Amino acid sequence: MECVALLGLGLMGGSVGLALKQGKASLKVRAYARREETRAAALRLGMADEVFDDPAEAVQGADLVIVCVPVCKIPELIAAAKPGLKSGAVVTDVGSTKAWLANEVREVLAGSDVVFVGSHPMCGSEKTGLEAACAGLYNKAVCIVCSDAESRSVAWKVTHFWSGLGARVVEMDAVKHDEIAAATSHVPHLTATAAVLATRGEVADLRDLIGPGFRDTTRVAAGSPEIWRDIVQSNADAVLKGLKSVLDAVQEMVGVLEAGDFAGVERLLARGAERRKALCDCADPKTVEAPARVVAIDGPSASGKSTVARGVAKALGALYVDSGAMYRGMTWKVLRAGVDPENEEAVREVMRDSTWSFETVDGAVRFTIDGEDPGEEIRGEAVRDTVSYVARIPEVRTFIVDRIRGMRGMGKLVVEGRDIGTVVFPDTAWKFYLDADPDERARRRNAELIATESGTSVEAVLANLKMRDHIDSTRKTAPLQVAPGAVVVDTTHLTLEQVVEQILGRIRES
Ligand code: CDP
Repeated sequence: MECVALLGLGLMGGSVGLALKQGKASLKVRAYARREETRAAALRLGMADEVFDDPAEAVQGADLVIVCVPVCKIPELIAAAKPGLKSGAVVTDVGSTKAWLANEVREVLAGSDVVFVGSHPMCGSEKTGLEAACAGLYNKAVCIVCSDAESRSVAWKVTHFWSGLGARVVEMDAVKHDEIAAATSHVPHLTATAAVLATRGEVADLRDLIGPGFRDTTRVAAGSPEIWRDIVQSNADAVLKGLKSVLDAVQEMVGVLEAGDFAGVERLLARGAERRKALCDCADPKTVEAPARVVAIDGPSASGKSTVARGVAKALGALYVDSGAMYRGMTWKVLRAGVDPENEEAVREVMRDSTWSFETVDGAVRFTIDGEDPGEEIRGEAVRDTVSYVARIPEVRTFIVDRIRGMRGMGKLVVEGRDIGTVVFPDTAWKFYLDADPDERARRRNAELIATESGTSVEAVLANLKMRDHIDSTRKTAPLQVAPGAVVVDTTHLTLEQVVEQILGRIRES
């Protein structure tokens, strides 16, 4: 990506600009802001290279356009920018609601080859405006990315962008996002406003008695009415449903109080305290992506990872993710393009031109590349002999790591590979490392291959395993290593069922 355009320079847009300009120096940032003062301030604060008063001019040449204005204004701003949009550009946003917006923007962009992928970085503050912007705003924040059938194949560009700013990306369906956002953000916001409005009496009389409890419970009510009106308007059905649940809860409280049932009051308070604990207890409130929902299984070739990971996923009702298949898929694509897998620049080019999409089939995440399922070809000799060259290229690793991280929105995951516990999900509590004696591994893999290949031998398989083990564990980026805190299981003398049981036992204990 060479050029990014920011439409709107408030807290969110300004912070994207600052983070980008402090990151990659060669990236061009063009920005649109309505007001002259804002444009001048953005240049002075180093948030953009060039500023414009016309959105269509600002987006010219941009590969990615990020719209950073209140939700309801996004469609009209994209419409104004449309004549300047580069062919094949991707447009995203930072708005708090996603389904209504995606429908509106789809209509605005109809007839062009520009695609919209919604984003919701879950950060911000009651402060608004450019002055409050900071380069670290997105660092460690959870960012939800919502694509649909039309935009799924380019969603990785948006995922990659936010991960580059340090965000933890979760991919999710827009409607599901909006329901969750109503319950966890929009309704609590309105409830906080209601609590403030419910204070009766003169401000001067109350002011000295305002303690930290009131401040904590009503903090969000200080937010921008303009932004929040938009949020409520664009998610009205879900918000209304949520507010009715609040009314029910309040009604229940009124009921027990009217009955003088103070044991009932205590029961309600206990239920609330327990649920709050379950919802909010995590070390860092910014990392709410629930890393414990991922089981990471690493290890060298033929250590039993695939069979074990499938077994664990089935027992936990989780999705099975074979990261090695993705490196193999990339290698398959490279070989198909007639490119030498050791020619890193050529491999990168094939990677950049490829379009991946993901779906779940029989409890596993499956992918297609440019609409094609590589099938069993990824297990063949040509891929097997060259995959480790492709997998050691840092850009290939980033590409695949981002895609795997994005799968968290699909549900619980069991992911197997080489760097899952060390790099992809280092925060997960469940990390396992499977190993086995090389001769035993070669014997197992040869037994698998005999079914489909003629002329295979334990010796040839052993040579390939050793070669790959060597490249995988000595490469500079994400070498095969035991992750800190991982449970190491030597599978040489165990059946795979026994290994699955050991892993499930550990998970149940924790
Ligand atoms: O099934 P097997 O263990 O032989 O390999 P795989 O899991 O299909 O992975 C194939 C190759 O992809 C490995 O030899 C690594 O070079 C690479 N790989 C990786 O670098 N990182 C991963 N997370 C998974 C695989």
